[in-house]
Amino acid sequence: MPFFPKLFKLIRWFLGEAVRRLGEEGYTQFIDFASGLPTVDHIHQVAPAGTKVIYTDIDPVTVAYGQELIKDNPNVRYGVCPAEEPENLLNSPLVEQLFGKNRKVAIGFNGVAYFIPDDKFQRSMKVLYEWAGKGSRLFLCDTGYEADIMKAAGRDMLALYQKLGQPLFLRSPKALEKLVQPWKVVAPGYQPLEQWVGVKSLETETRTQDFVMIGAILGK
Ligand SMILES: C[S@@+](CC[C@H](N)C(=O)[O-])C[C@H]1O[C@@H](n2cnc3c(N)ncnc32)[C@H](O)[C@@H]1O
Repeated sequence: MPFFPKLFKLIRWFLGEAVRRLGEEGYTQFIDFASGLPTVDHIHQVAPAGTKVIYTDIDPVTVAYGQELIKDNPNVRYGVCPAEEPENLLNSPLVEQLFGKNRKVAIGFNGVAYFIPDDKFQRSMKVLYEWAGKGSRLFLCDTGYEADIMKAAGRDMLALYQKLGQPLFLRSPKALEKLVQPWKVVAPGYQPLEQWVGVKSLETETRTQDFVMIGAILGK
């Protein structure tokens, strides 16, 4: 999968771009799912100083290492939570400890929806929507896959993840738009990640010719 390093950088760059925009719009509280490692260009490194951030991941080793990376930063926390069960975090004391009663948040859901089957993903979107305060935002990216145009690299990727015991659930942009409801898309809408971050096409660079990821900022 020679295009993976570029793909994962692209996801982190999109996340950074969304955070920069939301920071400029005055969002000061972020919850992030499937955060991975906050090494470079993650939320607390990109958002204005003083922004409060809760990172989460399903993998306890990632969380332990993430906690080491954020050290004793008083505005940042890192906890275990599966992205398909956001209530585990939302009902934990962590959120109220950091945010108080203020539920106007920006929520990150990047590079993980493709690990979650449709029904669970849809439920997670609804739980987050119902919990979040008015004016909240959700920034997410996922595969923009049309099954009928899938080519060799896409099929190889599906087979690889299947073998690893973590099957992928690829969906088209139309299917994604439906599953995220009742979150509503805000400008500029769904765009390929390259367009969000202003780099030339990943497809051209990697010559995979068939892998697209799209991202959007949604609102309540
Ligand atoms: C592609 S990375 C996510 C990248 C990160 N959001 C970023 O922007 O750099 C995938 C991460 O998702 C985590 N993960 C996989 N399945 C998950 C799930 N169901 N819930 C939460 N995290 C999950 C993995 O442990 C890994 O850290």
